[in-house]
Amino acid sequence: MLKDIAATAHGVIADFDRTLSRVWHNGKMCETCHGIMDNSALMPPFYRQEANRLLGKYYPIEIDPKMTEEEKIPYMLEWYGQIHNLIVKCRVSQGSLEDMVSASNVKLREGTEKLMNELHTTNVPVLVFSAGMGDILEQVLKHFNVYTNNVKVVSNFFRYDDKGVMVGFKDDLIHMFNKNENAIHSSDYFDKLRGRNNIILMGDSLGDTKMAVGVPQPSCILKIGFLNDKVEERLEKYMKNFDIVLIDDQTMDVASSIVDLMK
Ligand code: C5P
Ligand code: MG
Repeated sequence: MLKDIAATAHGVIADFDRTLSRVWHNGKMCETCHGIMDNSALMPPFYRQEANRLLGKYYPIEIDPKMTEEEKIPYMLEWYGQIHNLIVKCRVSQGSLEDMVSASNVKLREGTEKLMNELHTTNVPVLVFSAGMGDILEQVLKHFNVYTNNVKVVSNFFRYDDKGVMVGFKDDLIHMFNKNENAIHSSDYFDKLRGRNNIILMGDSLGDTKMAVGVPQPSCILKIGFLNDKVEERLEKYMKNFDIVLIDDQTMDVASSIVDLMK
């Protein structure tokens, strides 16, 4: 498969939270896009308290090894619905997002900057496909200097009023289990991939394996899965759905070495 991928032009599709971003650093959990806002001192206490309560209620359902995706989806929709209503109540200003990101403990997986630089200099299109929040994610990519012109972000983006106050979300919701071409509202990304049918896909959720649905005539998709949580209970399913499964690996070493092999 590697030989096939190397033989023609390629593209990368990566999930964001817990895939490009680290799970933990120095023994402490790192924040996700939602976590950045959920724990930000710039958000009102009622929001932080309720967001963390909802995370405690719904995250165990998201990663429950015994429930099917169909069983989980209604709960995930409930979670997003509640959190989105809460964010709108907070009247978040567009200008505060950069400060929220700088004050957070979000970190990219070790070696992500090197990999992204390599993909930029070799002109490889990168789709960052996230069920998190696009406005925050973009700030994180900018913060770490990896938001280059070969990178396209597909995610849930905020709608602002004319004073730059967040008043809602654009487009349909992208959640962790509907990551396929239907969730990609601006489909020019797939046009860019025409002729680039060999894809490296990276994700940490089983739902991420669908991110390449929509790639024109895929000939080869190498799926790298980061298994971060509930390892024993989920390993078998991850082995079935990803080509490579990395357990508690906080680096980009495997993806980087594959990209190096293609040079
Ligand atoms: O970038 P990615 O698609 O991984 O972002 C989705 C992640 O965001 C989910 O895996 C979920 O755990 C997290 N999330 C959250 N709070 C929410 C909704 C999603 O932390 N309200
Ligand atoms: Mg993720």
